[in-house]
Amino acid sequence: DAMADQERRFRESVAAMPTTPVGPRRSSERARIGDRFANTPDSDPSLPATRVWAREALAADPHRLSSPVLSTPDDVDEVVARAVSAAPGWAGRSAYDRAQVLRDAARELDARRGELVTIMAAEGGKTVAEADPEISEAIDFARYYAERGLELEAGASAHTDGSRFTPDRVVLVTPPWNFPVAIPIGGVLAALAAGSAVVIKPAHPTPGCVEVAAEALWEAGVPREVLQVVRTDEREAGRALVSHRDVDTVVLTGASETARMFAGWRTEHPAGPRVYGETSGKNALVVTPAADLDLAAADLVRSAFGHAGQKCSAASLGILVGSVARSERFRRQLVDAVRSLRVGWPHDLGTTMGPIIEVPEDKLRRALTTLEPGESWLVEPEQLDDSGRLWSPGLKEGVRPGSFFHLTEVFGPVLGLMTARTLEEAVELQNATAFGLTGGLHSLDPDEIAWWTEHVDVGNAYVNRHITGAIVQRQSFGGWKDSVVGPGAKAGGPNYVALLGSWSEDGLPQ
Ligand code: ALA
Repeated sequence: DAMADQERRFRESVAAMPTTPVGPRRSSERARIGDRFANTPDSDPSLPATRVWAREALAADPHRLSSPVLSTPDDVDEVVARAVSAAPGWAGRSAYDRAQVLRDAARELDARRGELVTIMAAEGGKTVAEADPEISEAIDFARYYAERGLELEAGASAHTDGSRFTPDRVVLVTPPWNFPVAIPIGGVLAALAAGSAVVIKPAHPTPGCVEVAAEALWEAGVPREVLQVVRTDEREAGRALVSHRDVDTVVLTGASETARMFAGWRTEHPAGPRVYGETSGKNALVVTPAADLDLAAADLVRSAFGHAGQKCSAASLGILVGSVARSERFRRQLVDAVRSLRVGWPHDLGTTMGPIIEVPEDKLRRALTTLEPGESWLVEPEQLDDSGRLWSPGLKEGVRPGSFFHLTEVFGPVLGLMTARTLEEAVELQNATAFGLTGGLHSLDPDEIAWWTEHVDVGNAYVNRHITGAIVQRQSFGGWKDSVVGPGAKAGGPNYVALLGSWSEDGLPQ
């Protein structure tokens, strides 16, 4: 069945990993522009240590999946009932106490870095260079939400009118596979900081990542009933979980199709949980003639092809303004940078772009294999092996306004270029999609920056920087328009923990 398949695939990919590290590449092998964005082992000072962790973890036994598989609505009831009974004990502890557990969780996550990197590579196809900072992000979430929990309690007790914060009893976290540690654990930690009990259902491809990270939290003192990891292999069980009347909130990060499915279930079960979600994006980076073009080329390529373009935040479009659109040099820089990406499996530590999570279908296959009218390849993507999952990156120009590629999220390693005569026209193209997750501008002109920041309709607007990799607290992360479901407090931001509960007068929940 699906679970056994998943387990087998996991074991096979771990077994296939070499136990000796791949040596660093000679710098002459790397293209000039590539140096600026590619975290190759010999350019990132954190990687020698990671290589040691990865090697140690690879030599150890593969992770054995242990979280229960829920098959029937009765299984679901049991798990939720356990969370409901554990919730008051956790909520009744002081925020100080919970913050201490979260800080210890940060330390325990750090202690499992090697193991986590390995599982992220095996299950999720994540390169070491991308996995390592993701663990740091999870650690940042632990420390940051610990502080926000303290602040929330201090603020609540400062109210003299009797109003106070009541955490949700049970929060369900349904994360994606593309950030298989930071997103699930970020959601869990926010709910724990608020004082809620949590059930987490990892994405199908990446359950081991969540299990190892959860072990860190249990070790730090989160009771097992307060944090439960479950898997579901039946649509019915998943649906029962997401619509359960004793689950207060579902924190979803995933495709907008999933958000629509959850919303449909909610309509059928009005007593079920509310859904807060961060979903899809179709993100563009605008480059004006006032940009540092070397930096812009590097940031565009890094934003487009990090994790093979499988980030909700990834740049799928580059919108080139005025003379940039006509610049042969800039075009050549992009082509060189794209060609210098080293595509491979994550256990080759020199890989800068890893595999696609599954053999591409539908929208992604179309994006990788066909051109729409007006488009032409600057670098044509190719399937590199029989697995069907390794593709070289694609770069195309001539994407037309209103076309499939302009408006559709494809979630893979293809970057399309559009052109605009003015910044105003570029922002029109950037805002034309239904989504509003991330967006970027490369320009050194303060007037352009001010105008763009005012007019772009995205949750995360980045200036003169790549558009992925939001940093906890500094760049809290979340979308607008169709990229968000619910009130839209941003992850890693000041209001996120307070979202997971309600304010009451005289102690009565509203
Ligand atoms: N938080 C992830 C990023 O910013 C999605 O790229």
